[in-house]
Amino acid sequence: MSLTIAIDGPAGSGKSTAARRLARRLNYRYLDTGAMYRAVTYEVIRSDIDLNYEEEVAHLAEKMEMNFTPAEGDKKSRIIVEGRDITDKLRIPEVNDKVSRVARIKGVREVMVKKQRAMSANGGLIMDGRDIGSQVLPNADFKFYITATLEERARRRYKEIIKKKPDTDFEEIKKSVARRDKIDTERCYSPLIKPEDAVEIDTTDLSINEVVDKLYNIIKEGTS
Ligand code: DC
Repeated sequence: MSLTIAIDGPAGSGKSTAARRLARRLNYRYLDTGAMYRAVTYEVIRSDIDLNYEEEVAHLAEKMEMNFTPAEGDKKSRIIVEGRDITDKLRIPEVNDKVSRVARIKGVREVMVKKQRAMSANGGLIMDGRDIGSQVLPNADFKFYITATLEERARRRYKEIIKKKPDTDFEEIKKSVARRDKIDTERCYSPLIKPEDAVEIDTTDLSINEVVDKLYNIIKEGTS
């Protein structure tokens, strides 16, 4: 089987971890499209480009040479830009703060969607993001919309960040997740939506293993 599987959902819903593990279980490739928008954002910061100059940001996205090295086991795949491994830079606070603003630029989205579609050829792929089922792979074999309450999603982000930054304030994290939700769902170009034909999974009270099992069973049932 070489299916294409689209997974969308808001920040902190657990979709990336679930997608990565599901890909391992199915022996599929996994593409984290959020990492692509993050890579553009990091390069924008590095090149000191003003986000108000949208054409310049889109131009940078277009000419940027971005490569993924496949992940081994449960590890994340590496992102190499112009020969530099920037994987560890993708979740720094400056990128977290700016990525939604970069991702709402039409020119950036057009370039990313083109690259993502090119990578989907031959199937055997799980792609996650915000517009995968609605825009990038509208004909995907399976579409999932993974979500959780704002409180729970903020709690997950907090648990991740507190390890590195012990003075992190939970309420601040919650505000920042809510701010990103607002930008991602209200932007003009391909906002985050639940595609009509997607299966919704609320992960608020589920463990990651339970989420992966649910996805896996739906795919198995749908293809048997
Ligand atoms: O999933 P993430 O938190 O790494 O996503 C980072 C940002 O990129 C987020 O603000 C939404 C945006 N994004 C998007 O607009 N479209 C995608 N397909 C993936 C991510």
